[in-house]
Amino acid sequence: MRWLSASLLATALAIAAKPCQAQNSTYHNPVLPGWHSDPSCTRVNGTFFCATSTFIAFPGIPIYASTDLLHWKLISHAWNRESQLPGISWNTWGQQDGMYAPTLRHRDGEFYLICEYLGQSDGTVGVVFKTADPFDDAAWSDPVVFRPEKIDPDLFWDDDGKVYVATQGIILQELDLETGELSQPPISLWNGTGGVWPEGPHIYQKDGWHWLLIAEGGTATDHSITIARARNITGPYEAYENNPILTNRGTDEYFQTVGHGDLFQDTEGNWWGMCLATRSGPEFEIFPMGREASLGNMSGWALPEASRDVPGDGPFNSDPDEYDFTGEDAAIPKHFVYWRVPREETFSSTADGLQIIPSRNNLTGIPESNTDGVLSGRQGLAFVGRRQTDTLFTFSVDVSFAPTTPGQEAGITVFLTQLNHIDLGIVFPEEQEESGASTKLSFRTRSIGTVAAPEPKLIEVPNAWLDAPIRLEIQAADTTEYTLLAMPASDPDARMVIGTASAALVSGGAGNFVGSLVGAYATCNGLGTGTECPEGGVAHFTRWRYHGDAQYISATESVPSR
Ligand SMILES: *[C@@H]1O[C@H](CO)[C@@H](O)[C@H](O)[C@H]1NC(C)=O
Ligand SMILES: *[C@@H]1O[C@H](CO)[C@@H](O)[C@H](O)[C@H]1NC(C)=O
Ligand SMILES: *[C@@H]1O[C@H](CO)[C@@H](O)[C@H](O)[C@H]1NC(C)=O
Ligand SMILES: *[C@@H]1O[C@H](CO)[C@@H](O)[C@H](O)[C@H]1NC(C)=O
Ligand SMILES: *[C@@H]1O[C@H](CO)[C@@H](O)[C@H](O)[C@H]1NC(C)=O
Ligand SMILES: *[C@@H]1O[C@H](CO)[C@@H](O)[C@H](O)[C@H]1NC(C)=O
Repeated sequence: MRWLSASLLATALAIAAKPCQAQNSTYHNPVLPGWHSDPSCTRVNGTFFCATSTFIAFPGIPIYASTDLLHWKLISHAWNRESQLPGISWNTWGQQDGMYAPTLRHRDGEFYLICEYLGQSDGTVGVVFKTADPFDDAAWSDPVVFRPEKIDPDLFWDDDGKVYVATQGIILQELDLETGELSQPPISLWNGTGGVWPEGPHIYQKDGWHWLLIAEGGTATDHSITIARARNITGPYEAYENNPILTNRGTDEYFQTVGHGDLFQDTEGNWWGMCLATRSGPEFEIFPMGREASLGNMSGWALPEASRDVPGDGPFNSDPDEYDFTGEDAAIPKHFVYWRVPREETFSSTADGLQIIPSRNNLTGIPESNTDGVLSGRQGLAFVGRRQTDTLFTFSVDVSFAPTTPGQEAGITVFLTQLNHIDLGIVFPEEQEESGASTKLSFRTRSIGTVAAPEPKLIEVPNAWLDAPIRLEIQAADTTEYTLLAMPASDPDARMVIGTASAALVSGGAGNFVGSLVGAYATCNGLGTGTECPEGGVAHFTRWRYHGDAQYISATESVPSR
């Protein structure tokens, strides 16, 4: 990917001449690998802050901080507690509804995060969260709520102090930040250069102009970024003659769907942009990590000095995981996410490790059902995961699980949506019961996804492995396939391959806006009543490990994970 040309962008923004840098920097995209779509970024003092979309995942809208633009630490989530938006998560059934396309800004000592939550029966809910301390989840406010007509809100303060929200269209309204009231009727600012869906607007002021940066052409391989400017915020806007200023449309680049970006300056006055891109090549078939955040230009202005000296208690996005979850105080790490707000009792740290109480709904459930609250998965999945942040990686976790009833299952998964996941479970199989056999504890692979899934596979757990923790492992040993393995935790050399599955299963389809997570789950596959599974089937997880092995930067080249 490259900004069409950073110098054109510079002309478009009329960037003032700056002192020559001794040397330009080169680096590899994506700088925020793994599912990080619609990045919006700002700088305060020497620290850059970025927010990205999370749809129905919870906690939502991660805030990352960096001083060097390459090492991004997760510092908080703007939406981090049910009480900020009571009931909204469990009312959402679309896999790609929820919280998306944020704008992050800083003004007079406060950070503002504006976003919209889609998929409520009474329409889209606009939200503005505020904090003076973005390093603390609890400091993020309850939102001021507004009722937008279109998606992708920007937040902009004009010189006269008026506050504006621009949204898809591109339309403009004034917003009262105390009451959420929007001025009517919306003003049409610009329809873009003719691509479908002019959206993702951001307005900047510079040199007496209002600059309107937008995404257009749709979010797939025709995606692009264009720009226009006007003296008056309400227009008329004149389009830049060399639009689009950024796209990989019509190319055979590995990084596709390049678009939906935001611009900001470093302390030297250099302009930088962050946008989304998909590592799919023009075939656009295999891209399990979905839309990732990239920084243009790959060879451009000198980067700020490399540093991991960033406050906050979350991990850096590219760090490996090493969590044992033993001891009462082994908190669930900050970058772990759930599919919707979890049921309160589902996850806890115990002396035996991370305990997951099974949910009646499995990872698929009945996702299209808006009527069955529990089996649809709307009341949370008993699943917790972290982003797949590397093209090649190894993820493993030790499971202690002693089910008593056929259907009870615990395992690990590559999860994109309820309709796209690849599971390796330990189960008392219903299949054997149905065929009249005495059920024996077994490994089972099951998947569902964008392409035809392989047949489920059932392999009995060897007798010698029973009554002790079992290590389940997922490897992406190449770019196209996951390998699912099992071994006794005490004897990893005895590993067995249980199955393989194509990464195309978790690319696009019902999840073309989101990206894969890897994690652990427990379910009783629909048995029981209400929210209750039959007794037993509680799983304990210890020794959680995730290690990135390589990042692909083109169809054929990779670099070691950072
Ligand atoms: C930025 O620097 C100013 C002056 O040192 C300080 O008062 C302010 O708290 C800093 N802001 C942030 C968000 O760090
Ligand atoms: C954008 O298109 C709409 C619908 O055709 C039109 O009403 C509006 O005036 C256009 N806006 C601008 C700024 O040209
Ligand atoms: C900007 O346009 C609005 C009407 O759209 C007008 O009322 C206002 O005076 C204009 N401001 C300037 C500075 O020209
Ligand atoms: C350094 O990067 C900037 C911004 O991308 C560009 O304008 C300039 O030409 C580059 N200089 C060199 C020596 O490559
Ligand atoms: C932008 O990056 C590309 C790819 O690294 C490089 O060829 C080009 O010279 C860069 N442009 C500028 C203006 O630095
Ligand atoms: C998941 O549970 C539903 C019932 O809630 C069941 O129909 C389905 O077969 C189960 N398994 C999968 C892989 O969906």
